[in-house]
Amino acid sequence: MASSSHNQPRFSYKITILLLVFTSLQLSSSTPSKSCLTPSSSKVIIAGNSTILSENRTFVLGFFNTSEESKWYLGIWYASIPTPTYVWVANRETPLSSRDASSLEIDGGKLTVKDNRDSRCDVVWESADGDFEGEGDVKLQEDGDLVLMDARGVVRWRSFDFPADTFLPGMNLTVGQTLTCWKSSNDPAPGKYSLRLRPPDYGEVELLADNNRMYWSSGNWTGNIFSGVPEMTLPYIYKFYFTNPFTETATFGYTETMTQQKPLTRFNIDSSGKIKQYTWSPQTEFWNMFWSEPENPCRVYGLCGDLGFCNAKSMVNPCKCFDGFQPLDGVGWGAGDFSAGCRRVGDDACSNDDKFEEIGDMTFDPEKIEALSGSRSDCERKCLSNCSCMALSYNPKTNSCKNYFGKLLNLGNSSSDLGIIQDSLNIRVHKGVIRKKIGVKTIILITTITSFLAIASIAIIILIILRKKMIKRKKLEEESVFPVTNLKVFTYKELHAATNGFSEQLGHGGFGAVFSGKVDSTLVAVKRLERPGGGEKEFRAEVCTIGNIQHVNLVRLIGFCSEESHRLLVYDYMPNGPLSSYLKNNGRTLDWEARFRIAIGTARGIAYLHEECRNCIIHCDIKPENILLDKDFSAKVSDFGLAKLIGRDFSRVLATMRGTWGYVAPEWISGVAITTKADVYSYGMTLLEILGGRRNVEGPPPEGGGGGESGSNEKWFFPPWAARRITEGDVAAVVDERLAGEYDVEEVERVGLVAVWCIQDEEATRPTMGMVVKMLEGVVEVAVPPPPKLLQALVSGESFRGVGGNSQNDTISRASDDESLSGMR
Ligand SMILES: *[C@@H]1O[C@H](CO)[C@@H](O)[C@H](O)[C@H]1NC(C)=O
Ligand SMILES: *[C@@H]1O[C@H](CO)[C@@H](O)[C@H](O)[C@H]1NC(C)=O
Ligand SMILES: *[C@@H]1O[C@H](CO)[C@@H](O)[C@H](O)[C@H]1NC(C)=O
Ligand SMILES: *[C@@H]1O[C@H](CO)[C@@H](O)[C@H](O)[C@H]1NC(C)=O
Ligand SMILES: *[C@@H]1O[C@H](CO)[C@@H](O)[C@H](O)[C@H]1NC(C)=O
Ligand SMILES: *[C@@H]1O[C@H](CO)[C@@H](O)[C@H](O)[C@H]1NC(C)=O
Ligand SMILES: *[C@@H]1O[C@H](CO)[C@@H](O)[C@H](O)[C@H]1NC(C)=O
Repeated sequence: MASSSHNQPRFSYKITILLLVFTSLQLSSSTPSKSCLTPSSSKVIIAGNSTILSENRTFVLGFFNTSEESKWYLGIWYASIPTPTYVWVANRETPLSSRDASSLEIDGGKLTVKDNRDSRCDVVWESADGDFEGEGDVKLQEDGDLVLMDARGVVRWRSFDFPADTFLPGMNLTVGQTLTCWKSSNDPAPGKYSLRLRPPDYGEVELLADNNRMYWSSGNWTGNIFSGVPEMTLPYIYKFYFTNPFTETATFGYTETMTQQKPLTRFNIDSSGKIKQYTWSPQTEFWNMFWSEPENPCRVYGLCGDLGFCNAKSMVNPCKCFDGFQPLDGVGWGAGDFSAGCRRVGDDACSNDDKFEEIGDMTFDPEKIEALSGSRSDCERKCLSNCSCMALSYNPKTNSCKNYFGKLLNLGNSSSDLGIIQDSLNIRVHKGVIRKKIGVKTIILITTITSFLAIASIAIIILIILRKKMIKRKKLEEESVFPVTNLKVFTYKELHAATNGFSEQLGHGGFGAVFSGKVDSTLVAVKRLERPGGGEKEFRAEVCTIGNIQHVNLVRLIGFCSEESHRLLVYDYMPNGPLSSYLKNNGRTLDWEARFRIAIGTARGIAYLHEECRNCIIHCDIKPENILLDKDFSAKVSDFGLAKLIGRDFSRVLATMRGTWGYVAPEWISGVAITTKADVYSYGMTLLEILGGRRNVEGPPPEGGGGGESGSNEKWFFPPWAARRITEGDVAAVVDERLAGEYDVEEVERVGLVAVWCIQDEEATRPTMGMVVKMLEGVVEVAVPPPPKLLQALVSGESFRGVGGNSQNDTISRASDDESLSGMR
């Protein structure tokens, strides 16, 4: 008896030890499935931090996280580039909390993602049933397709059939499949926007909000492109196919035509509802976006959510909340998911003494409208009595109003935005919001003013001492850095004063805003760089390089400022502004003599950058906006050297691709190294504009400009038409009508031929800038070039046709274009 009572505790002690050993074994085990009670058929493919690479290391499969929060996903991304870019995600809605305890397994003919913490073996995601017995295997193919094969090697399931937000070469879009955007930039859960073949015909693709509202479509398949996407013919590195269009078995996809050195390329539906196409540029280590729809972010249905205001012109963030409102989901808002919209500041949803704030003429879509007649105060009272009444429009002429209930979506400020109703809008705001704010502020001010004064005076004394020391040190530094250039170093304060507090904006380019100012009573232009990349040292080194470049046809850099986060460049002021301002239909114009001089001057400036300064500089952004005119109307090229200065951010140059399509050489798209010939191409496009006295891509007509119903997104692409005329010997058809025949025929012919030489598809066929100068000067004879094929391909597209304002009896008629466009929109 006694012995047994002694045995008992010893026995349980042993069990405890065993358990301990067992659990610690589990913890250190690298294949967690062993400890789980899974069927023996399960096979672990990857676990924890292990990954699978495709054969040639293009793609990798593994677990990843996108934020500091412990959320892990199984996904596929590019193995060969430094920017994490996920092309497929398995457990989009069910993140794992730890990578170490996660695994991908083949289990019962399916792929499963398991959470093995505490031996739970929870299946957080599984693929569709592959319907086979036995082990099977997976393979990550070179094109990014993850395939599940049975024991005999037959493919039973593939990730390409279950796309996430990315459309890769080799992938097929078929009836019933959709691509769905991420909820926000760091949340792969399915978001609001998706892409699919458009039912019931399946002859085009469409973008949808909430799986039911179409807000963009491609237009019908014409046999080789979609009618609304003429650019599809341009990128010669892809081939698009659409087998069995207009049937239930329709299959759309694309392949790369290159077999060697394929650039990485992808289409992506982003969380702001746009479809974008990117190509990886190894040179800049950046994804170059070169196509995107819809162009206007405010045409994406419900982008800014309830009560969110959409501004297409804002470059950083299109959505904002009105005063007295704040984002409902601040975190999502910061990550680019605006769909939750705005809510009132404060706790109450509504109150009887709310007031109405006029926010002006708006376009919007209310959930429900109630029309009333009566005085303004009647309408207001009626609205105040119901908490779901959010806004009203009052018409004093008819003494009536409309009250709006529920959600107020697609609030915008322009007729090209999505909203259906356009009216002067008064939104309901908290009466106390503004007053309370002031009240609180006043109290704080009064109570803190005395203590603040005391602290401030001490701080100021310390600051003054520190500043004096710093200025001394800085001056020493600067002198040692700039022994050769005569660049002036400005303080931010000096420039702030010189530009009158940055009050007079001259323009806004790809790199930042430009302001006019005065330094020592001479006029200057001050460029404030946005989001400058690189450090202080790199900035100074680059500025030094730019400062050393001097040529009569280049804008002179006078000085700069680099203080904390401020980076500013100070240039000579050009009184006659950019060339672009002379290319408007109804604006000032230039005579031929001036145009010819500008053409040669610009060519000389660029040639100098390419050939004569110590380090060859590729401008990367030649266009009429960057050719400035001094008081004698001599051309001065501006913004040179900035592409390098801004570093990786110079993809911004391409960000508004459709707008500047006319200037960008085709090799930008293919991701190959950019040479000086890219500038030659852009210069050629600019020459056509000088010749025609117009823009290559004419935007939609000015708002409310009587455009009527003929589709507000129409665009005319001038270069293919012009190039054909010129190569056929009919340059007169291309020349600006406003010159009324007052030009030197020989010069015009030369300029036309040179322009077409510059825009040849192949870099090697384009002349160098030095040669361009000689050709224009008439020193060398100019032969007739072949018409550029890529541009001609555009002309054969359905709607993006080149029609000059001076089209004479050209076969292409504006009316037929209007039809095809308005039918599509
Ligand atoms: C993967 O994890 C193991 C331990 O869990 C660690 O020893 C190893 O260094 C990790 N490998 C990588 C590439 O992080
Ligand atoms: C991987 O690269 C080699 C050599 O370039 C090539 O022969 C092979 O076909 C490539 N494999 C795949 C799957 O693309
Ligand atoms: C992923 O998680 C690790 C910690 O487990 C963290 O150090 C890392 O910063 C996270 N990655 C991102 C992109 O936030
Ligand atoms: C995509 O469709 C084409 C043509 O229908 C077909 O040849 C190809 O095998 C399909 N690819 C995939 C991954 O299903
Ligand atoms: C408020 O207005 C909405 C929409 O007209 C209506 O459905 C709801 O019943 C109203 N609520 C009250 C309390 O009157
Ligand atoms: C709407 O546009 C007008 C002029 O374009 C501008 O004055 C006004 O401030 C804009 N409203 C908002 C809310 O941005
Ligand atoms: C596209 O084709 C379908 C079916 O042929 C037709 O009903 C529809 O009107 C076409 N859409 C356009 C924009 O031409």
